[in-house]
Formats: sequence, structure tokens, C-alpha cells
Amino acid sequence: MKTWITLGLILTAGILILTLWLLPGAFSAKGKPSEFEVKLVRFIRHWAVPSHIRNANNPIPPEPEVLADGLHHFADHCATCHANDGSGKTPMGPNFYPPVPDLRDQTIQEMSDGELFYVIHYGVRFTGMPAWGDGNPEKDTDSWKLVHFIRHLPEITPEEIKKMKTMNPITRAEREEQDALERFLAGEDVQPAVEHHH
Ligand code: HEC
Repeated sequence: MKTWITLGLILTAGILILTLWLLPGAFSAKGKPSEFEVKLVRFIRHWAVPSHIRNANNPIPPEPEVLADGLHHFADHCATCHANDGSGKTPMGPNFYPPVPDLRDQTIQEMSDGELFYVIHYGVRFTGMPAWGDGNPEKDTDSWKLVHFIRHLPEITPEEIKKMKTMNPITRAEREEQDALERFLAGEDVQPAVEHHH
């Protein structure tokens, strides 16, 4: 009896010390997951997507208007983290754990249409990738349009990027700066902000 209590105490103390030793930094978003971890999680996630979605073909035909809708939606909702060209090179992108991937990379482009749809509709738990669908995948045409746009990212043109820049969300300060500049250019007596704050 006494031996068991002693053993129990030693075990508890051991777990406590190990936890305290691991704790500092354990919840930090700095650094990157190891290659092995990424491969393993990708494998598990591939099979975690219900097969009827994983194997689904994009039900929306890739018409020019569809691609234009996808481009607009991406510039407005996704580019803050993913960048207009999908590179993930934004102020936030590399600082997530795991970091935002380059959507033009083979790893992403090799995912099935259904898998990409699933990620957009349901998000990715324990990462910075939010869910964009309302839980009703049958009605979610927007996410299927975004899948077409993600397929188009490797061939995106400088003209398209330029167009997207006009669709990116801007802060109130940026909007006020733009309004003041427009009023100034229209001949009104305002002081346009000359400095850029970033
Ligand atoms: C708040 C930042 C943020 C926004 C906004 C965001 N994403 Fe993501 N996204 C992430 C992060 C972080 C990851 C990496 C997740 C991972 O490694 O599984 C990611 C991953 C992805 C992936 C790859 C999934 C994978 O398996 O690696 C796709 C595709 C994607 N996002 C599409 C989109 C689309 C489309 C939108 C807009 C509707 C969007 N994201 C908006 C942060 C964001």
C-alpha cells in the first residue's frame, strides 16, 4: 500500500515537472510544424473529408463570370491572409501556426476540388483558417466558385492582381485618406494626408 502511494506521488511530481518544463512556449505560434507532422496531418485530413465531398466534381461550370465572382470574393475575404496572388506573403500569413501555405504550390493544387471546397466551407480546426460556409454545403455555390479561382491562381496575370487591389478591404484611415485626396484633386480646400503609415 505504502509503495503504491509513494509511486503515485513520484509519478504525479514527474508529470508536474514535465508540464512546467514544456509549458513555456508550448502555446506560442512561433516556429513551424515539422515536415513529418505536416505530412501526417495532411494524410489524416485527406481521409477525414467525407468521401461524397472529397470525390465531388465542381458543380459550377468555369465560366468567365464565375471566375470573376471568385476573384472578387477572394480579394475581399481571403487576400488579407493569403495575398491576392495566393502566395501567403501578407503581414499575417507567415505568422500563423501553421503558416498560411502558398496556394499555388503543388501540395494545394493536388488536393481534389472537393477537398478544397471542404476546407473553405468548414475551415481547418486548430489553425487560422476560418469556416466560410453556413453548414449547408448543398447551397454553397460561393465556395465552389472560389475553388475555380484557386485553380486559376498559378496563372494569375498582373492585370488581375491590379483589379484585385481595388477590391481589397481598406481601413477607415485609408478610406479617409483616399476621400481627402479625391476632394483635394477635385479642387476642394482640404489638406491631403501625404505620409503613409505603413
Ligand atoms: C484569418 C486568416 C485567413 C483568412 C481570412 C483565410 N484563410 Fe485560408 N488559411 C489560413 C491559414 C492559417 C491556413 C493554413 C491552414 C493549414 O495549414 O491547414 C489556410 C489554408 C487555406 C487553404 C489550404 C488548406 C490546406 O489544406 O492547407 C485554402 C484552400 C484556403 N485557406 C482558402 C481560403 C479562402 C478561399 C479564403 C477566403 C474565403 C481564406 N482561405 C481565408 C488563414 C486564412
